Amino acid sequence: GQATPTKKYTAFLTRRLPEPAWKLLKSQNSNFNLIVRDSEEHIPYKELLESVVGIDVLLCLIPDQVDKKVIENAGPNLKMISTMSVGTDHIDLTTCKKYSIQVANAPGVLTDACADFTIGLLLSVSRRIVEGVARAQKGDWPPWHPLWMCGPSLNRSTVGIVGLGQIGQAVARRLIGFGVGRILYIANTPKPEFEKALGILEKTDLPTLLRNSDFILALCPLTSETRNLFDKNVFSQMKSTAIFINVSRGPVVNQDDLYEALVNKKILAAGIDVTTPEPLPPFHPLYQLDNCVITPHIASAEFESRNNLAILAVKNLLSGINEGVMQTPIDL
Ligand code: DGY
Repeated sequence: GQATPTKKYTAFLTRRLPEPAWKLLKSQNSNFNLIVRDSEEHIPYKELLESVVGIDVLLCLIPDQVDKKVIENAGPNLKMISTMSVGTDHIDLTTCKKYSIQVANAPGVLTDACADFTIGLLLSVSRRIVEGVARAQKGDWPPWHPLWMCGPSLNRSTVGIVGLGQIGQAVARRLIGFGVGRILYIANTPKPEFEKALGILEKTDLPTLLRNSDFILALCPLTSETRNLFDKNVFSQMKSTAIFINVSRGPVVNQDDLYEALVNKKILAAGIDVTTPEPLPPFHPLYQLDNCVITPHIASAEFESRNNLAILAVKNLLSGINEGVMQTPIDL
């Protein structure tokens, strides 16, 4: 009989990618059908639902909600999803597991960019940089005054890190350079080697971390365990002088409870790079607070890290198609 030619895979990209990733993809796409949504804009959900029908491989981004409906709409051909992100909370992993769909994220490439930004956001809040700029622009700038616009020191402070993954560890290393006294952390797996290397690091439980930390950094992934973790009860256990920084995902925080904690000075201030929803509408009450700095999910926004993120997402797609396994798959 006649040999049936192996079916060519069809890969769908939900948007155009940065140039270096695009070049890599174009140089190696001869053995599969490539469908790229030729746009710089985020794909609307309805279009995503329609576009995935029959595809074998999906390359998606953080704002693409790859839920059960999208996965089931793609149908039985769907074998692999490569996301141009570290986080995978926008993908229904339970459904992927059910249908044996491989999922790969892009770890490592954003670590330093995110860690630098975390320190930057922390200092913007503690040293009131954003508030200071706003006051200067408004003419609210009195002659030099001993305690005007002062904030707490990072030097010799206790920092609590919630989620000591790659980014958490990179932040901890940077904090050594700022002379912090102690770093407390909670994580699913202890990091004894890293503790030894840093000297001032100590694994603890959440109540102890909350009670003792001057700065509390959320650097954990969004999972069923961390969703809504930072709620009224958790904020009430923090010091009234505590500064809370969130560079993980918006939904790890109960935003109403955060607002309440900031307005009623249960904690000193917060810096958040992630919100619920994103974008956070400009009329949101959190923007009205002097003691809250909000940045638009830009912790990883360096040219190099974002290009590398796109390149790794493409490499995952290519190795998935060529070898059947993606380069950096996650455990489902
Ligand atoms: C990620 O990749 O998960 C980050 O949120 C991107 O900034």
